[in-house]
Amino acid sequence: MGLFAFGRFAVVGALALVGASALAQDASLVERGRYLATIGICDSCHTPQDAQGAPLKGMELAGGHRVGGLLSSNITPDEETGIGAWTDQQIIDAIRNGKRPNGETVRPPMGVFFYRNISDADMAAIVAYLRSVPAVRNRVERLESRVPATALAPVQTVSAPDRSDKRDYGKYIGETIAHCYQCHTPRKDGLPDAARWGAGGNAYTARGGGQVTAPNITQTNLASWTDEQVKQAITKGVRPDGSTLAAVMDFDRYARFSAGDLDALVAYMRTVPAAN
Ligand code: HEC
Ligand code: HEC
Repeated sequence: MGLFAFGRFAVVGALALVGASALAQDASLVERGRYLATIGICDSCHTPQDAQGAPLKGMELAGGHRVGGLLSSNITPDEETGIGAWTDQQIIDAIRNGKRPNGETVRPPMGVFFYRNISDADMAAIVAYLRSVPAVRNRVERLESRVPATALAPVQTVSAPDRSDKRDYGKYIGETIAHCYQCHTPRKDGLPDAARWGAGGNAYTARGGGQVTAPNITQTNLASWTDEQVKQAITKGVRPDGSTLAAVMDFDRYARFSAGDLDALVAYMRTVPAAN
């Protein structure tokens, strides 16, 4: 699987050189990309919303939603206001290396720190999916950021995770794709603090209003929860005592996790060292 996927990606790279993309023609690649974009909650930031937090119709991934003091970019295939004129490699570089074709940096809260570990095969799938959504003309202003982007070593190639290693695969799904630990890890020098991975503490405004703090999701908090209870919190927003979580996480997107991926994610969460 790894080799096959990598082989296909190599072909993709060659196509990118001539500026055309055959990626969007591959239906299974587009489906995989749609799945990754769903559990990766791209639309949660990239689709503009009404005052109640509902996505605006006909504006899927068209950008302009305010997050972390910035406006999300238009990532539809519109050539003038979106990323339609970018090569596959340029899109990959923006997502994995935070580098736009004009040299500007893609700044937080776009989760480059996590997305840089997306495998080549999955990256090709995400690009195929982005090429397949309707182009929407929507020019988004690029605001000044108060949060400086931290420079990370550029990534050229990332091999696919080993699906037979449940923990490693769960780590890939939870950290790299669903970037759970972006919200649930306190930051240090602008990046998630590795020493307090999953310890919680960042403040968020819930859809519909109200401030909440992302809780600790290490065993410090979750040891007494069953796997099923952890899954209910992630996919339904319900705690073991039946109370509901504030609307910060995208439970409806996380409800689309395949059973195997959700299993692997929870297995991985159990192995993250307890932290406070
Ligand atoms: C937490 C919010 C958030 C999520 C989730 C998110 N993005 Fe972004 N993204 C942003 C913001 C904000 C920007 C603009 C950053 C800037 O202005 O420097 C951006 C920029 C980008 C860019 C660069 C476009 C440009 O014109 O510069 C691409 C490509 C992109 N995102 C793709 C994705 C994909 C694909 C996903 C899902 C796998 C995703 N994003 C998930 C917030 C997010
Ligand atoms: C956008 C930020 C954000 C992302 C992304 C996110 N969470 Fe959360 N999560 C929160 C917040 C905020 C709460 C608390 C809501 C409340 O208190 O009502 C929460 C609550 C939880 C809880 C309940 C804990 C408790 O003690 O009540 C669990 C478990 C959890 N998240 C796991 C995850 C997992 C696993 C992922 C990735 C699949 C994830 N979260 C992604 C912000 C986030």
